[in-house]
Amino acid sequence: MSEGLPPGIEPVMRVPATPTQANTGGDIFGGWLMAQVDIAGSIPAVLRARGRVVTVAVKDMTFLKPVYVGDMVSLYAAVAATGRTSITVDVQVYVQRNPVALETHKISDARLTYVAVDEKGRPRSLPDVG
Ligand SMILES: CC(C)(COP(=O)(O)OP(=O)(O)OC[C@H]1O[C@@H](n2cnc3c(N)ncnc32)[C@H](O)[C@@H]1OP(=O)(O)O)[C@@H](O)C(=O)NCCC(=O)NCCS
Repeated sequence: MSEGLPPGIEPVMRVPATPTQANTGGDIFGGWLMAQVDIAGSIPAVLRARGRVVTVAVKDMTFLKPVYVGDMVSLYAAVAATGRTSITVDVQVYVQRNPVALETHKISDARLTYVAVDEKGRPRSLPDVG
């Protein structure tokens, strides 16, 4: 089931698109996909920050193709850059559909920036990575 997916890396999340996520046209609501992208991007950000992060900016997000009910959505996320308190993450989204004659499609590219925060929600410096 990995045909057509990026080789050599694992998705940070896989989630099925269900009828409850559909818009009035029957495709998947873009806002649901944006939420999945935000969650996926936060995973490497939290690991890099060694703690809580908040999303400060969605720098870019493209919807290349529609997502349909029944698609298996795979989200890949990796840190692209860091600052003093911020972490910028690139997210790529693929879907796989029709397991009998499997199709894989790239659905979205996104870049988001997260900020490491303390218990009061104030920016905190990223820890050194050894
Ligand atoms: C994120 C937040 C803590 C930043 O607080 P702040 O006082 O503006 O902090 P700063 O100005 O010191 O900026 C912190 C970092 O964010 C970066 N940043 C701020 N705005 C940014 C933007 N629009 N795009 C990219 N990076 C941005 C800064 O460059 C800085 O990075 P660095 O330390 O690596 O140089 C604050 O804006 C906040 O709480 N926002 C709401 C977050 C949230 O609720 N997200 C979920 C929405 S549903």
